[in-house]
Amino acid sequence: MRITLVPLVALLLLWTLPGWSGLAVDAPGSGEYADQWRPDPMHEYWDPATYHRPETGRMAGIFTGDDCLTCHASITPGIVQDWQASRHAKLEKPVLCPACHGNDHQKLTFPTPQTCGGCHPKPLAQMEEEKKWGFPSHALAMERAVDARHFADKPPAETLSCLQCHSVATKCDSCHTRHRFDPAEARRPEACLPCHDGPPHPDEATYLASAHGQRYQKEGAGMDWTRPLGKGQYPIPSCAYCHLRNGIHQVADKSIWGFGIREINPRTAENQIKRKRWIEICADCHPPDWSAAQLSGLDNERKEAWKVLYGVERLLKELRSEGLLRPTAQERPPYPLDPLARWWPRERIGFFEGGASAFYHVGAIERHYFELWYFDNPGAYKAQAHGATALSRHAHEGMASQAQAIAEEGERLRLLGKKGQAVDLKPLWMEGEYTRFNRENHERNKEKP
Ligand code: HEC
Ligand code: HEC
Ligand code: HEC
Ligand code: HEC
Ligand code: HEC
Ligand code: HEC
Ligand code: HEC
Ligand code: HEC
Repeated sequence: MRITLVPLVALLLLWTLPGWSGLAVDAPGSGEYADQWRPDPMHEYWDPATYHRPETGRMAGIFTGDDCLTCHASITPGIVQDWQASRHAKLEKPVLCPACHGNDHQKLTFPTPQTCGGCHPKPLAQMEEEKKWGFPSHALAMERAVDARHFADKPPAETLSCLQCHSVATKCDSCHTRHRFDPAEARRPEACLPCHDGPPHPDEATYLASAHGQRYQKEGAGMDWTRPLGKGQYPIPSCAYCHLRNGIHQVADKSIWGFGIREINPRTAENQIKRKRWIEICADCHPPDWSAAQLSGLDNERKEAWKVLYGVERLLKELRSEGLLRPTAQERPPYPLDPLARWWPRERIGFFEGGASAFYHVGAIERHYFELWYFDNPGAYKAQAHGATALSRHAHEGMASQAQAIAEEGERLRLLGKKGQAVDLKPLWMEGEYTRFNRENHERNKEKP
């Protein structure tokens, strides 16, 4: 009797009640620019520890785990089915819905890594420990995103997408999705791919093009993914096999070249340790010397890339000192979140002068540089790292032709400068819907006459 009544009552409630977000509408933002942005309702899901607020005035009651299951079997049947298929459901003492959400429907919680860590201390401790490697890393992903200067300056619809990926730090259901929580899923490349592709980090494209990825596409479906990661378990490596070595919940403990956008000394003591770890992994299946040579190949690729990047940076810095970069820093709409730009306005070039955030409202030559540095260059790095050498060569050709375009534009600017002619402004970001939106929506932008 109760079994049929409860869902009926719940359906009636659903019919009469509006949406179900628990986000406090006036919650402040987080991070360095917390006073500059407000979270969207979705933020309670991306970062529950910071933004989830218990909801009020809808479904009410304190329920047992069985109550939750019975009612949710008709409210959210997919969730209940996934849970039923999970190890959590099959345990002698099942991990029921209240273990992660609480039992009071007026005070529902969303599990944070700490919630899971209560029963799974090892993966949590490993992820916490990852912070010592700095960024990029999963453990620091959320703070890195909200502390990026361009984060708070972008339209909210876009910054929401940042956190969808960068939430890998603030909830554990990114690689083994809820409510199945299946390690077999997390071992497969598909667990990483939603977040790991696109021009600055083309991991999907480069892996799939490699010998490993090619074979994965042919044989992956037939492999037994219930086996733990480690030597002798898999014929070819997946992302997790290489990056979460032996199932350790850390991705930054081997990273030498990181994101590929800043010059790094591969010979530091720390990097020698990381190099050993890489070789150990390859040596599960390849000879160690051959594996070491692959990594040296990556060092050489990076050296070549930095030769091109430094050449272009030098040219841009010369043009800057000759006063030929237009629009000049003073002609650009002030970058609203950058105090440095207020007392030292200057066109900033490269990782150390301003990072990716510096490339707003710039002229064509700087935009070419940005694409070279932030898109082609990481593409060349990832392709080489993942053994997709043809793609890496292709990306280097892209770098060369961008560098050529930059050199030609530099010559043109110098010629105009010599003739005393004003450099024609070809601002890419000065006008247009996006820039207009920013101008109209940010207080500090409005201060500009
Ligand atoms: C009588 C039916 C019923 C029972 C029992 C019930 N729920 Fe719900 N639950 C709902 C309905 C309806 C919603 C839709 C949102 C709302 O109106 O609260 C919901 C929503 C939720 C949500 C989503 C909240 C959000 O903000 O996205 C979670 C999580 C949840 N329930 C967990 C539980 C847990 C845990 C239990 C047991 C302690 C439980 N529910 C018991 C009917 C029920
Ligand atoms: C092991 C922990 C765990 C258990 C057990 C669990 N959940 Fe969840 N649940 C989660 C996580 C993680 C999320 C995602 C929260 C977020 O997005 O921040 C979630 C989200 C939800 C949501 C929000 C809607 C969505 O898209 O998923 C509902 C509804 C929900 N759970 C219901 C249930 C019900 C019903 C049960 C029992 C059958 C249950 N959960 C058991 C961890 C759990
Ligand atoms: C109340 C304790 C408890 C909580 C909370 C909990 N788990 Fe579990 N979980 C367990 C137990 C017990 C097992 C079974 C362990 C085993 O078989 O060794 C398990 C198993 C797992 C497995 C392995 C499943 C498999 O098929 O082998 C994963 C993955 C997992 N949990 C993830 C999570 C995540 C993520 C969260 C938080 C969203 C979470 N758990 C919250 C107790 C919990
Ligand atoms: C929900 C999105 C998401 C998923 C899923 C995800 N990652 Fe990440 N990963 C990120 C983000 C975001 C960063 C960059 C964080 C930062 O800003 O420091 C990152 C960084 C990394 C790094 C860089 C570490 C370094 O030191 O340079 C590696 C390696 C990595 N992830 C591997 C993986 C692997 C392997 C998987 C799948 C098993 C995976 N990731 C799944 C979002 C994700
Ligand atoms: C599709 C998923 C995705 C989206 C969307 C995304 N990122 Fe990332 N981000 C990543 C990954 C993956 C990396 C790491 C790449 C690597 O190490 O090769 C990264 C790296 C970074 C880094 C450099 C590493 C660091 O910690 O300094 C910053 C900063 C960053 N992202 C900020 C942002 C901001 C701000 C946004 C939104 C405008 C955003 N990201 C959108 C996945 C994403
Ligand atoms: C970057 C992807 C990724 C993230 C994020 C992630 N896991 Fe895992 N997890 C994996 C992979 C891959 C495995 C399989 C490891 C193996 O084969 O040894 C796994 C296995 C597990 C297992 C079962 C094996 C064991 O070690 O007992 C548990 C439990 C688990 N994860 C919990 C968590 C918890 C808790 C969090 C959040 C703190 C989390 N995971 C976040 C990828 C991830
Ligand atoms: C054969 C092992 C292997 C596989 C498989 C693999 N990678 Fe990598 N990956 C590497 C190596 C080696 C590097 C270069 C590491 C360095 O600079 O120290 C790298 C670099 C990266 C980086 C830059 C950060 C870092 O750790 O330096 C990210 C992010 C990344 N890979 C993600 C992925 C994703 C996502 C997949 C699956 C689509 C994947 N990788 C598959 C070996 C692998
Ligand atoms: C789990 C086993 C395994 C691991 C670990 C592994 N590989 Fe491989 N690798 C293979 C297999 C198998 C092939 C051959 C794939 C094919 O073409 O069928 C291969 C092929 C390659 C190739 C292409 C070689 C050629 O002649 O075409 C390169 C390059 C490579 N691996 C580099 C690496 C590097 C570097 C690492 C460590 C970062 C690594 N592999 C880790 C199994 C592995």
